[in-house]
Amino acid sequence: MKKIMIILVLFLFLIGCEQINPNPEPTDPCIINPDDETCDQLPYDEDIDQQIQEFLFEMSLEEKVGQMVQAERSSVTPTDVSTYYIGSILSGGGSHPTAFNDSADVWYQMVYDYQYAAMNSGANIPLIYGTDAVHGHNNLYGATIFPHNIGLGAANDPELVYEISKATAKEMLTTGITWNFAPALSIVQNIGWGRSYEGYSENPEIFESLTQSAIKGYEENGVSATAKHYLADGATTNGIDQGDVNLSEQTLRDIYLLPYIEAIEAGVDTVMISYSSINGVKMHEQAYWIQDVLKDELGFEGFVVSDWNAIQQLSGSYQEQVAKSINAGVDMLMEPYTWRDAIEAIKTNVEANIISMDRINDAVSRIIRVKLESGLFDNPYAREDTAVLYSDEHQALAREAVRRGLVLLKNDNQSLPLEKNESIYLTGTASDHVGYMSGGWTTYWQGNTSADIGVGTSIKNAITNVLNENSGQIVNNINDAQTVVVVLSELPYSEGVGDNQILTLTGGNADPNNLNALNIAQQAHQNGKNVVGILISGRPLLLGDYLQYFDSFVAAWLPGSEGGLGIADVIFGDYDFTGKLSYTWPKSIAYVGYNSNREDYDENLVQFPYGYGLTYA
Ligand code: BGC
Ligand code: BGC
Repeated sequence: MKKIMIILVLFLFLIGCEQINPNPEPTDPCIINPDDETCDQLPYDEDIDQQIQEFLFEMSLEEKVGQMVQAERSSVTPTDVSTYYIGSILSGGGSHPTAFNDSADVWYQMVYDYQYAAMNSGANIPLIYGTDAVHGHNNLYGATIFPHNIGLGAANDPELVYEISKATAKEMLTTGITWNFAPALSIVQNIGWGRSYEGYSENPEIFESLTQSAIKGYEENGVSATAKHYLADGATTNGIDQGDVNLSEQTLRDIYLLPYIEAIEAGVDTVMISYSSINGVKMHEQAYWIQDVLKDELGFEGFVVSDWNAIQQLSGSYQEQVAKSINAGVDMLMEPYTWRDAIEAIKTNVEANIISMDRINDAVSRIIRVKLESGLFDNPYAREDTAVLYSDEHQALAREAVRRGLVLLKNDNQSLPLEKNESIYLTGTASDHVGYMSGGWTTYWQGNTSADIGVGTSIKNAITNVLNENSGQIVNNINDAQTVVVVLSELPYSEGVGDNQILTLTGGNADPNNLNALNIAQQAHQNGKNVVGILISGRPLLLGDYLQYFDSFVAAWLPGSEGGLGIADVIFGDYDFTGKLSYTWPKSIAYVGYNSNREDYDENLVQFPYGYGLTYA
C-alpha cells in the first residue's frame, strides 16, 4: 500500500513538473521548413490558417495571455499595452477619453496611441478596440442617434437595418474603433426587463428577418459585430436583469438559439456571453452551451468574450472564476479594471494544468483570426473622414427609421393626420427633449438627461417648423387650440436600472411629469379637443383608463436624435404609418409576459396584439 502511494505521489509530481510548452508543434510544412520552394508559391497572407499557426509558434505565453484580456480605457495606459501585450480595450457606456463632448479627433488620438503601443510591443499584434454603439456611435458626442432596436423591430425592414449598421460603422471608424458590442439578439419575454428596448422583438421571426442584415452592415463596412448576450438573456424569469432562465433545452433551441444560428451564418466575428443563468447555472460557466453547442455544433469560428466583470459572479476564488469561464469556452475576458489579475490568474491556471495549453492556443487562434480576417493587420490605424458624422445622409436615414417604426395604436374621429395650419397646444417633458427621446446608452451609460444632447430636433421644434411654414401655430393657451398633443415618456435608463414590474404611465421608470400631462389630456378631452398621445418609451406601458382620453395614440419607442422630425413627418400626413408591434401590448400587469410565443396566445386577452398597427389608408 505504502509503495503504491509513493508511486502515485511521484507520478503526480512528475505531471505537475511537466514543462509547459506554449508553442504547439506546427504541422504546416512551410513553417517547419520555410526554405521549401513550394512554399513560395503560396502568398503569405492568403492562407490565414498558416499565419495563425505561425503566430502561435512564435508567441510567448505572456503574449498569448495578453491577447485574452480586455481592459477598460480608464484603467490602462499605452505603456501597459506594450508591457502586457493587451489584446483588447473597451470604452464602457459613457467612457469618453477626457470629457463627454470629446471630438472624434480626441477619440481617434486615444485609440491611435493604444494601437501604436500594441504594434510596437514585440508581439506586433494589433489590438481590437470595442464599444457599445447600440443605436449609432452613441458614446461619441455629435454622432447620429438612431432609434433603439425596439423601433427597428416595429419597422422590420432588413435593408433599413443594414443601412443603419453601415452608417454606425462609418461613424465608429471616425474614432478608429472597429468592434461594436452589437447587435443585441435579445428575444424579450417580459417587458419588465430594463433592456427590453435593446431587443427587436418578443418573437424569433423578427430576428430571422433582421439579424443577418444588422451584422453584415457592420462587418462589410469595417467593424466587427457581437451577437449578444448568449444565451436567452431576454427570457429570465419575471424579466429580471442578469436573472435565471427556467426553460427546457428544447425551448432554448427552438426559440433562443435561432438568432445565433443566423449570426454565425452571417459570419459574426464575436459572441458575448450573458450575465444570466440557465436553470441556476451561470452562462459564463456553461461549457455545454458555449463549447459544445456554439463552437462544436454550430461551428462558430470567431471568439467569445465575457460580459463586464461577469466572470466575477461565478463561485470560487478569482483564479477559479477565470478557469471556469475559459474552460467553458470563453476566449477573451472583459475584466475592465481587474485585467492584471486576470492575466496572473490565467498564467497560474496554465502552470497548474487547470487550463490546458490547447485551450489557450484555441482562444488565441480565434482572436488572431478575427483580427486577420477583419483587416486589422492590414490597416491597424484605419480611419473614416469625420464628414460622415451626423451627415445629411445619416440624418435622413435616422429620420426614415423613426417614421418606419412608429406604431399607430388608436385613431378615432380622424384625429390624425393633423392639419398643417392648425393651432396646437403641446405638453409633456419629452415634447422638447432629445435626451429623453434617445433613452439609455446615449452619451452616458444611463442616457443623457439633457434636453439638448448636441444633435437632433425635438418634437416641439419639428412641429413648430411645419406649422410656421403653413400659417399654423403652437399656442400657449390651451383654449386657443383645436388639437392638444400630449407627449408622455419614460426617463432614460439602461440595464437593471430599467427593471420594474409597475409599467404604468405614471409609475416605474415613467417621467413623473406624465401625471400632469395626463390630467391635461383628460380635461382637453372633456372640452371636446382633438387629443393626440405620443409615447416615448423603451417598451409598451400599461395605458389603463387613460387611453379613453386620447382620440389617437402613437407608440414612438426611443426614436433618437431625429425623433422630432420623423414624428412630424407622419403625424402631419406626409407619410403613412407602417410600423407593427413587435411586442405584445399588455392590458394589465397580470398579462405582462403573456406573448406571441405562447401556443395559447389569445389576442382578446391583450390590449394590442403582436403585429398590430393602424394606417391612414
Ligand atoms: C452589458 C453589455 C455591454 C458591456 C460593455 C455590460 O454591462 O451587459 O451589453 O456590452 O457592459 O459596456
Ligand atoms: C459601464 C457600462 C457597463 C456597466 C455594467 C458601467 O459603469 O459604463 O459599460 O455596461 O457599468 O454594470
